[in-house]
Amino acid sequence: MNKKTKIAGLVGNPVDHSWSHVMHNAAFDALNINAAYLKFKVDKLEEFIDYFRSLNIMGFSVTIPHKMEAMKYLDKIDNKAKKIGAVNTIVARNNKLIGCNTDCDGAVKALKSKTSLNRKNAVILGAGGSARALAYGLSENGANVTILNRTAEKAKSIAEDFECGYGPLKDLKNIKYDILINTTPVGMHPNADISPIPKNLINKGSVVFDIVFNPYKTKLLEFAEKNGCATIHGIEMLINGNALQFELWTGKNAPVQLMRKKVMDCMKNAGNKN
Ligand code: ATR
Repeated sequence: MNKKTKIAGLVGNPVDHSWSHVMHNAAFDALNINAAYLKFKVDKLEEFIDYFRSLNIMGFSVTIPHKMEAMKYLDKIDNKAKKIGAVNTIVARNNKLIGCNTDCDGAVKALKSKTSLNRKNAVILGAGGSARALAYGLSENGANVTILNRTAEKAKSIAEDFECGYGPLKDLKNIKYDILINTTPVGMHPNADISPIPKNLINKGSVVFDIVFNPYKTKLLEFAEKNGCATIHGIEMLINGNALQFELWTGKNAPVQLMRKKVMDCMKNAGNKN
């Protein structure tokens, strides 16, 4: 690093578990970009943004719990992030901070690698920020979306914004779906031996996408494979989303294969199998 090194980084709490620094730093090196991606464990977001505004920053990734609050402290929010109601990327441009959302496009790209979306029946489990990004992306691409959540009221609030169906998780047994997406943390390391739904509720022949990326193959995806479904691993959304962030910050095509290799190496070192 030197005086001209631009700073990028992850802003959230917790940030320890993240592998984004490995992907972004490898990409900066490969393209000879003088920038460094760091992890910032941040509680007071407003103070953090005020301080960093005056430094040589490229932008930030934003994660839990700041994706909605970040919108208050930026100079501009792009249309997609505004509609989704959450920012996962901040871009510094001409001394202004712009809020964007790459979760949505990252997830839609992962889905489109396995299925078309137009007129498909899609069920989203969970009703947090990730569910909002998915509900927006799927609706924009012509899918009929139903949001099912432990707290049905929260599902209702997203459903109203994006004109989707909604209900409690137990409604799943009555729905015929083509695409099932888990956005809850159920099955995430270290609780990897549980699934948000039992195996018998996974429709044979559907496409199942779990946004949980650690472990690589979640219990839900294991059940889905056994039921003959096509599966999409959460790591795909992470790689796509990070590649889009890199492109927003640098204006250059991201070295996606390199970023994929770097994060897969991390997963293998963490004891995950393919
Ligand atoms: P994110 O921003 O990643 O979407 P979030 O906003 O914390 O994360 O949302 C997590 C979602 O997972 C919520 O919809 C939550 O359900 P509630 O609205 O009832 O809280 C859901 N969730 C979390 N833990 C769960 C569990 N053990 N079983 C079922 N749903 C769970």
